[in-house]
Amino acid sequence: KGQNLNEHWRPDFHFSPEKNWTNDPNGLIFLDGEYHLFYQFNPFENKWGHMSWGHAVSKDLIKWEHLPVAIPEDSVWIFSGSTVIDKNNSSGLDNGNGNCMVAIYTADYHNGKKEAQYLAYSNDKGRTWEKYAGNPVLDLNAKDFRDPNVFWHEKTKQWIMSVVLPTEYKVLFYGSPNLKNWNKLEEFGNQGDVRKIWECPSLTQFAVDGDSTKTKWLLMVSSNGPEQDFAGVQYFIGDFDGKSFKNDNTPDTKLYVDYGKDFYASIPWNNATQNQKLMLGWMLNWKYAENQPTFPWKGQMSVPRQIALKTFPEGVRLTQLPVEQFTPADSYRFFEKKDFVHTKEKLLNGSTLFAKNAYIIEADLTIKSSRDFGFKIAQNLNKEGKATQETIVGYDVKKQQLYLDRTNSGKIISPDFASVDKTFLKIDNKRLRLKIVVDKMSVEVFANDGAVAITSLIFPDPKATAFSLFCKKGKIKVNSLKIWDLSKK
Ligand code: FRU
Repeated sequence: KGQNLNEHWRPDFHFSPEKNWTNDPNGLIFLDGEYHLFYQFNPFENKWGHMSWGHAVSKDLIKWEHLPVAIPEDSVWIFSGSTVIDKNNSSGLDNGNGNCMVAIYTADYHNGKKEAQYLAYSNDKGRTWEKYAGNPVLDLNAKDFRDPNVFWHEKTKQWIMSVVLPTEYKVLFYGSPNLKNWNKLEEFGNQGDVRKIWECPSLTQFAVDGDSTKTKWLLMVSSNGPEQDFAGVQYFIGDFDGKSFKNDNTPDTKLYVDYGKDFYASIPWNNATQNQKLMLGWMLNWKYAENQPTFPWKGQMSVPRQIALKTFPEGVRLTQLPVEQFTPADSYRFFEKKDFVHTKEKLLNGSTLFAKNAYIIEADLTIKSSRDFGFKIAQNLNKEGKATQETIVGYDVKKQQLYLDRTNSGKIISPDFASVDKTFLKIDNKRLRLKIVVDKMSVEVFANDGAVAITSLIFPDPKATAFSLFCKKGKIKVNSLKIWDLSKK
C-alpha cells in the first residue's frame, strides 16, 4: 500500500478525518460560536469497525479542527445518534455550567445481539465525555433499533426522539422530560420507499417559504435512493403535534433528498444560528464504501447544506444549497463573466486558477436552441486537446433531465459505479440555474435554487483538472457565470 499515494484525492474544503474510516455524521450541534461535528469513526483502521464518535469543530463550516475521539467504544460500539444542549438541566447531568451537552446514541452489542439507546454527557463543550451510569435509557431488546435523533419540542415541553426499527421500515417517536425516561408516543412507517431498511431518522420543523405562520415538519430517513439497489435519503413532509406525524402526501409518494449515489445518513444541525437550518450527509454509498481507493482515510462529509421547505406546484418540497460562506461576493479568488452566447465546447480554464479541482461554479443559463449542455469537469486533455477523462454535468432539454455522467470520470471502484445519475427537472422560461461544488473526489450539483441535488464521488487522474462549458448543437446564453476557487494553496 503506497504511503499517502492518494492524498491528491483529499478534499480541500469538505470534512474528512486525518486518517481512518468514517461514515455517518453524528450529533451535529452549534454551541458558543462552534459548529460541532461528531462522526462514525474507526480510531484504529481504515475500514468500518470499532465504531466510536470522532469529533471536529469549526467556526465557519469551512475549516475543521480535529479533536480527539469524543466517545470511544467499550464493550459496545457507539453507533449513530444526536446531541442536545440541556440548558435547563432537565437530566441533572449538568455540573453547573449551564450548557451540558448530552449525546443520545445507539449502543451496538456488536455480536449482533441487540441495539439500545445510551447517553453520554460533556460539561466542557464536547471536549471530554462521561458515559451515563444508568445506561441504557431505552431498550426494547431488539436486534435492530437505532439512530436516535432528539430535539426539544417547546409546544409540549418535552424532548422528542425519532428512532428506527430498520427492518420494519418504522420510525418510532418517544417523549421524555429528562432524556433518561422515554415514553412511546406514536410510530410512522411503511410509507414512501420501503425497498431497503430504514436508518438515521430526523424530524425538523420549518417555516414554509420563510413564513412563520406556515409551519411543516420534515421527516428524513436514510434508506433507498431513487435508483434500485442503491441507498439514499428519502423524506416526508407533514405535521407533528408532539405525538404523531401525519404525512401530507399519499403513502406511496416517494420523495428523495438527492439523486446521486453518494449522499447518505444526512441529519440536520440541532440548534444552528440565525434561524439557519443546516444539514450534512456522508458522501458515500454502502454498496462500494469499502472500495474507496483513498489512503490513509476513507470517507468524507458533504458540503454543509442550507435547507428549507418551499411551495412548488406539486406541493411543499425540500430545497438545499451549499451554505453561503463558500461563495462570498468579495472573494479575490473569483472569476466572473456575464452575458455571452455559447456554442460547441470550449475550455474555460485559460488560467491555472481553477486547475486544482476545488471550486464552486454558479451559472445562470438560458436555452436558445441547444438540446444538451452543461459543464465538463475534471477533464484530462491529451495533446490534441481531446478529453480522455471527464465528468459531465448536463441538462438534456428533450428529456427535461439534469444528469451527472461519471462513466469516464477516472478510477471505477465497483461495477455499478460507472453510471449516469439523473433526475427530472422542469425548467421555466428556458432558464437553468446551477451550482456545482467540486472538491477533488466529489461533485455536488444543485439546480434551480436547490430544487434538486445530485451528489457523486469521482476518482480522477491527478492531471485531470481542466474544465469546459459545452453545448451540443445550437446555442445557450450565459447570463452569468461565477467561479470561486476554494483550493488550499
Ligand atoms: C448508517 C448506519 C447507522 C448506524 C451506523 C453504524 O450508515 O448503518 O444505522 O448507526 O451506520 O456505523
